[in-house]
Amino acid sequence: MKKQFVLITGASQGIGKALAELFLAQDYQVVGTSRSGNIAISHPSFQAMALDLTQMESIKTFEAQIASKDSKFGLLINNAGIGPDLGTSVPEEKSFDQTFDVNVKGQVFFTEAMIKHLAPSAKLINVSSKMGSIEQCVGTDSVAYRMSKTALNMYTKILTNRFAGQFQIATLHPGWVRTNISGDNTKGRYAPEESAAMIFDFVCSNFKTGIFWNVETNSACDW
Ligand SMILES: NC(=O)c1ccc[n+]([C@@H]2O[C@H](COP(=O)([O-])OP(=O)(O)OC[C@H]3O[C@@H](n4cnc5c(N)ncnc54)[C@H](OP(=O)(O)O)[C@@H]3O)[C@@H](O)[C@H]2O)c1
Repeated sequence: MKKQFVLITGASQGIGKALAELFLAQDYQVVGTSRSGNIAISHPSFQAMALDLTQMESIKTFEAQIASKDSKFGLLINNAGIGPDLGTSVPEEKSFDQTFDVNVKGQVFFTEAMIKHLAPSAKLINVSSKMGSIEQCVGTDSVAYRMSKTALNMYTKILTNRFAGQFQIATLHPGWVRTNISGDNTKGRYAPEESAAMIFDFVCSNFKTGIFWNVETNSACDW
């Protein structure tokens, strides 16, 4: 018997692609998204779909396609994210807008559109970052990226309050992972597959809803 449907945004590369491959290997049915709708994963239980979080029309079209399938997701992983100002010291308007369009506005309105397509007792995971932790922040860099993840954490809290007793919700730090997000995929402590394995273990656990979790240390992250 097939396991539940999983929806993973930003599955064309990096952590999202590794997650999609891992869930498929564990016999889940996976829908993965990228802006183009092309994802280099060939598996009978995988479907690639187009989604651009900066375009409300794209979110609407995606939602209509999901509605026509009439299948409910047991797990939504909001993984897509960008960091064009990572490592920069002063905020700049263009990258600030881009970051908030994807990491905040896009995440919020995409999630809102997906709520009705979640199964009862579904899990909803937002891939955040410990760079969004206010209590842990000692840096002065990456203003838009840090603030966007702090905002995503707040949205996670709000969702937790709204869907108490219904969905199991968490925001998480995936570790420092060697992907293209910073423009240098040689830096990082983990391969995407290693991060995906840590995320998988957390997602499959009976975690406390509303938690901000660091999968690298396997402990709660300070807000
Ligand atoms: N790597 C790290 O060390 C690290 C640390 C902490 C948190 N994170 C978080 O982990 C998540 C995944 O990051 P990653 O490192 O795996 O990055 P990545 O390799 O750059 O992948 C980002 C994904 O987001 C998608 N994406 C970009 N713009 C989009 C848009 N406008 N609409 C929809 N999808 C879009 C990309 O797909 P297309 O470009 O194909 O559309 C891609 O699949 C992000 O939320 C990131 O903030 C990463």
